[in-house]
Amino acid sequence: MKLSLPQPSALFLHLNMASPNLSFILVAALVSFLFLADSASSLHPGSTLSIIHAQGSYPPQLSWSEYLGRISSNDASRFLYLSNLAVSTTKKATPIASGFQNLHLPNYLVKIAFGNPPQPLTLALDTSNDVAWVPCPSCSGCPPSFFFNTAKSPSFKPLRCGDPRCQQVPNPTCEGTYCFFNMSYGGANFNAALSRDTLHIAGDDFQNYVFGCLRKVISGSSLPPQGLLGLGRGPNSLTSQTQETYRSTFSYCLPSIRSRNFSGSLRLGPVGQPINIKTTPLLPNPRRPTLYYVNMTGIVVGRRRLAIPPEALTFDPATGAGTVFDSGTMFSRLVAPAYAALRQEFRRRVAVKNVTSVGGFDTCYEGPIIAPNITFLFDGMNVTLGPENTLIHSSFGNTVCLAMAASPDNVNSGLNVIAGMQQQNHRVLIDLPGQRLGVAREPCTV
Ligand SMILES: *[C@@H]1O[C@H](CO)[C@@H](O)[C@H](O)[C@H]1NC(C)=O
Ligand SMILES: *[C@@H]1O[C@H](CO)[C@@H](O)[C@H](O)[C@H]1NC(C)=O
Ligand SMILES: *[C@@H]1O[C@H](CO)[C@@H](O)[C@H](O)[C@H]1NC(C)=O
Ligand SMILES: *[C@@H]1O[C@H](CO)[C@@H](O)[C@H](O)[C@H]1NC(C)=O
Ligand SMILES: *[C@@H]1O[C@H](CO)[C@@H](O)[C@H](O)[C@H]1NC(C)=O
Ligand SMILES: *[C@@H]1O[C@H](CO)[C@@H](O)[C@H](O)[C@H]1NC(C)=O
Repeated sequence: MKLSLPQPSALFLHLNMASPNLSFILVAALVSFLFLADSASSLHPGSTLSIIHAQGSYPPQLSWSEYLGRISSNDASRFLYLSNLAVSTTKKATPIASGFQNLHLPNYLVKIAFGNPPQPLTLALDTSNDVAWVPCPSCSGCPPSFFFNTAKSPSFKPLRCGDPRCQQVPNPTCEGTYCFFNMSYGGANFNAALSRDTLHIAGDDFQNYVFGCLRKVISGSSLPPQGLLGLGRGPNSLTSQTQETYRSTFSYCLPSIRSRNFSGSLRLGPVGQPINIKTTPLLPNPRRPTLYYVNMTGIVVGRRRLAIPPEALTFDPATGAGTVFDSGTMFSRLVAPAYAALRQEFRRRVAVKNVTSVGGFDTCYEGPIIAPNITFLFDGMNVTLGPENTLIHSSFGNTVCLAMAASPDNVNSGLNVIAGMQQQNHRVLIDLPGQRLGVAREPCTV
């Protein structure tokens, strides 16, 4: 028997994004849950981080369609990033497409600390990245407001070139005896020193946690201001580095984008995870070890199963084609034939003649509509989404749009992305030892 005592030790943090015209106010709260496990259990008791997005609405100076346009173009940049990951066949830098020029906004933040004594940091959470990184002193081109002060942490150490982990980061180089790497993220390119120090997360301490210490932003300016925590499945991610404690198992619940509080939670470790949850196998892709691939086998709109050419859904490790779950994209992207079939059946069922386009969405209506449910079929798991997960509404006026889109035209990667809007108010479980991904409905909107 287990007793769980939620501890109300929430730390709230308000972070005003640097760019005033995208002034999302993101609030992250950290809550640790203490579990009194029975003595027979040697499992880590589990930890929960909760994440609150203070403001789901758009910046007042933008119209709704401008706002949707901006989100869509951010998503397009994100998509290019994911598909470059997906098609890359070597550890060399992948080409950066022009879509990367857009600002990439981190949607979710978590509060952690690095160093001894601990220095608090608010990092963007990203399930499609591995190694963490933070701005370090004398970084050129980093946001001036913030850095992790390495001089104040005696446990901080740069990694030497001979360390095997130096071969697991993108574009590693050796300068003197120390390891550096170059990476691109959301339109920016940066150079960082591979380093280690203690990570404090959800009440746990991980000594010698490996991360990048930013020393130069080579181009672009859209990096999350305090850095990023990677939760991908590849080497040096949180998932990999905390494996002995959290057993490469975590789950998250993304809150509704309609909620002003936009709250959610990240739960680390196998304890406290949903047991009766529908799951589908995770598909490892050795060519692109970061991403969480699953086998999407079909799509149902209402009761009709769509005729989608099988190759639009087939997992191909060599090309990167297939379907991934991603928390950093806002609206799902489907390869063109799959999206065309979905859109056609959706429009047929809605049966309102006047269909318009708004900011990258091509299936919008004036006034309330009765939308069919959309079911994504995965190997062993069906996920049925109602209007909350399929429609985006204007905050004023009556415009409503199907909240998905086709993959950008200029990318031919065959990648389908199941994105945040379609995951909201669901718990998504990643269980790497069990090689499975689970989805269960769970309202987590405050
Ligand atoms: C990393 O970026 C620096 C520029 O800051 C450049 O001099 C170096 O050649 C790059 N290294 C690799 C491996 O791309
Ligand atoms: C946000 O959450 C707080 C409590 O955490 C609640 O009092 C408030 O009503 C919520 N606001 C909205 C708009 O849901
Ligand atoms: C995906 O599921 C289909 C249908 O069950 C199956 O034929 C196919 O082999 C699966 N693909 C992978 C990579 O597991
Ligand atoms: C269709 O909707 C648009 C935008 O609301 C409106 O301007 C147009 O008049 C409508 N057309 C018809 C035929 O109703
Ligand atoms: C959508 O699915 C929900 C739950 O599965 C169901 O209650 C609802 O009636 C469905 N809506 C439509 C329009 O079929
Ligand atoms: C998912 O839905 C499809 C089509 O409706 C059905 O054939 C299949 O049995 C369902 N699978 C599960 C695991 O419920």
